Amino acid sequence: MPDQTITSVSRESRVFKPSAEFKAQANLGSEVTYKRLYKESVNSPEKFWAKQANELLEWRKPFKKVLNWKVPHAKWFADGTLNVSENCLDRHLGTPLENKAAIIFEGEPGDIQTLTYKQLHREVCKFANGLQSLGMKKGDRAAIYMPMVPEAAIAMLACARIGVIHTVIFGGYSAESIKDRVNDCEAKLVITSDGGWRRGKIIELKATVDAALKKGVKCVEHVIVHQRTSNKVTMKKKRDIWWHDLMADSSSEHKAKAFAAENPLFVLYTSGSTGKPKGVLHTSAGYLLGTTITSKYVFDLKETDIYWCTADIGWITGHSYVVYGPLSNGATVLMYEGAPNHPEPDRFWDIIDRHGVTIFYTAPTAIRAFMRWGDDYVKKYSLKSLRLLGSVGEPINPEAWMWYHRMIGKKRCPIVDTWWQTETGAIMVTPLPGVTPAKPGSCAVPFFGVVPKILDETGQEVPKGEGGRLFLTQAWPSMLRTLWGDDDRFKKQYWSEIKGIYFAGDGARFDEDGYLWVVGRIDDVLNVSGHRIGTAEVESVLVAHPKVAEAAVVGRPDDLKGSALVCFVTLKSDKAASDDLKQALRVHVAKEIGAFARPDSIRFAPALPKTRSGKIMRRILKDIAAGVEVKGDITTLEDIKVVAALQASD
Ligand code: WT7
Repeated sequence: MPDQTITSVSRESRVFKPSAEFKAQANLGSEVTYKRLYKESVNSPEKFWAKQANELLEWRKPFKKVLNWKVPHAKWFADGTLNVSENCLDRHLGTPLENKAAIIFEGEPGDIQTLTYKQLHREVCKFANGLQSLGMKKGDRAAIYMPMVPEAAIAMLACARIGVIHTVIFGGYSAESIKDRVNDCEAKLVITSDGGWRRGKIIELKATVDAALKKGVKCVEHVIVHQRTSNKVTMKKKRDIWWHDLMADSSSEHKAKAFAAENPLFVLYTSGSTGKPKGVLHTSAGYLLGTTITSKYVFDLKETDIYWCTADIGWITGHSYVVYGPLSNGATVLMYEGAPNHPEPDRFWDIIDRHGVTIFYTAPTAIRAFMRWGDDYVKKYSLKSLRLLGSVGEPINPEAWMWYHRMIGKKRCPIVDTWWQTETGAIMVTPLPGVTPAKPGSCAVPFFGVVPKILDETGQEVPKGEGGRLFLTQAWPSMLRTLWGDDDRFKKQYWSEIKGIYFAGDGARFDEDGYLWVVGRIDDVLNVSGHRIGTAEVESVLVAHPKVAEAAVVGRPDDLKGSALVCFVTLKSDKAASDDLKQALRVHVAKEIGAFARPDSIRFAPALPKTRSGKIMRRILKDIAAGVEVKGDITTLEDIKVVAALQASD
């Protein structure tokens, strides 16, 4: 393929046009068509989405009503019925896709397993029967705490098949975090593995589940244990069941029932600005439509692709773009269990060459790590199978974008920088690879049916080029429906910043060409290596430590992680600061939340900067953490001397 043309070069912004060759083969390669469809999608959303829903999904009972929108509660296709698992599996059977790979799995130790659509369907049917034999039924909740193995996808699809609501908990979360999530949604079942491989070591998942269930969990009746690493685990009589035993007794025939379009599909917990994580609820048809259509057009997904999204299924990216979106399109999905630098930092490139990966979707923090590890690890591989690259999770800095373009895409592959959230379910703002010229660092233009607006405090649109808060003003099919068990928080969190429209929590601006540049979170949520961490969550864990009096947590810009976690801590009066205590507090946070939340720095201070009403002034702490001059008005500070003491803290 020819080089993509560079149409303008300046220090900060270059524009990369799709090549004629990519355009010619794209699922959507015409600007005129994109514009026409976009216009239709925002001017007549019901007409647009009805057509897409009929074309892209298989319905048991067709819907008549498209949208019922009583702000902030949306019901899409409410009188229609379908089965999500049937859409991802059964509909490909009896077609040429049936014997094609649905999942190509590579374990960290190097074991490889391929599941065709027929085989995957069979496993899902068996597991669905197994779940039913344990009494699991529509509306029940099942927690999934597993490594990146095909069985995780099988578990999700089997739940979907029988109307059980899954809540996947990322394998890096601690026992305490599992307990909170399992209790919050009152899961009857936990599905886990004995362990998972990570950097040559076993992560003992079952042991962590055991610890979680000992912390005061009453709702869990059974634990299903998939054997992955064969490390020793304790099986509690009656409660715990081996995956393989359950499967051995299960039939591979399973007739999927039809469920209402709005039947809940899953709850996925994400951090918010309080200590308690939010259970984002997604339902069936709208979510599946959003993930199916974006997979088709944003990733230009074809049946011939080998598509690899590196996200863990514990995050929304893994739900939408490892499992539901690509399988609904009949794609071949690559799943890799382990770390990118095991045994060497070239593992990803090795995987791409060996399996012939054509589409690769990863996060800026990973790209920056690859850059740091050095080009030599990449140069050993041809990467010639690649045709499209994607980025997600945080703003991608132009340097990382250029490296990705040059070193991985060999200047040949379009890059889609996709902006979206756990709450949006599917990609909202992105270039379309055969249509939209890309600007490094910008997530470009809205996808169909998405109307982003940048507003100021009064709800006025800010002029192009100026920053403000990002809102989505039109309902979309894959939007979250509520927060599990807390509709008030749902309303307050997303729909009351400016009444009646969706507040994304991000700061952003439009440039003169209408391209969106997302700056990052403006609420008290940090994006650390593409993982969302609520500062309040870390603070509440810190203050639970017996020696800590108060804590305030802020982000500090970090070259690799995007944000680093900096914790300002005041100790109880009789407790002494020490390096050991610092280390102990870092370990404490990692233990309570998960290793990915381990603070980068703990700073002891005699006091925290507060207003007279007792509110911690975070912007002051952010400046201090960043080592820059404290800007802005500090006259509302109760005690001005605190700033100097904080600056001197270490
Ligand atoms: C937050 C959502 C859904 C993707 C995985 C993270 C940030 C995500 C981008 C992007 C700039 C991005 C935002 C957003 N974000 N993608 N392409 N450019 N920022 O999901 O944990 O729900 O986090 O990630 O700040 O609000 P999440």
